[in-house]
Amino acid sequence: MRAYYYDNLPGDQRLPHDYVPSRPVSAEKLAALNVKFWTIPVEGYEPKINALAKECGYKNRDTINCSKHGLGEMYEDKIKTFFEEHMHEDEEIRYILDGTGFFDVRETPNDEWIRLAVEPGDLIVLPAGIYHRFTLDEADSIKALRLFQDEPKWIPYNRSEETDANPHRLEYLKSIGVGA
Ligand SMILES: [Fe+2]
Repeated sequence: MRAYYYDNLPGDQRLPHDYVPSRPVSAEKLAALNVKFWTIPVEGYEPKINALAKECGYKNRDTINCSKHGLGEMYEDKIKTFFEEHMHEDEEIRYILDGTGFFDVRETPNDEWIRLAVEPGDLIVLPAGIYHRFTLDEADSIKALRLFQDEPKWIPYNRSEETDANPHRLEYLKSIGVGA
């Protein structure tokens, strides 16, 4: 996984949007935002994912396939929806099995986007309450495991004043030492 600041230039969201020169983001910076990640080779991944899931209490999982071909006519709408800035009241855990894509997470309080370019073998955990968005890249295909603790709470809460006051958002800010 490669992490770097998103350049905020207009244009196709599926382009890398890397500054020139690139502004890489360190593992320490991601840790300070409570974003966790591991690399687990896809070949023979199951025992390792099972062990991690047990340790972290991720009891359930499913597989999601997202591609331009698979989405058909819904493609344009779907990728726009994924790219709306939002948060969840639960962690968003993804293990990439095939393909590539971009998860963007908001750095707080400076409000910059950090782009996480994921590839097979990447496992990322976005904490509850972090603002983020997702997009396919120009290869237009990703296959990932979604892991979750109990019933998934995947309702996206789009960024707004109301969402800013969501207890899970406030709890997140507290956990990273920002705000009240
Ligand atoms: Fe999400």
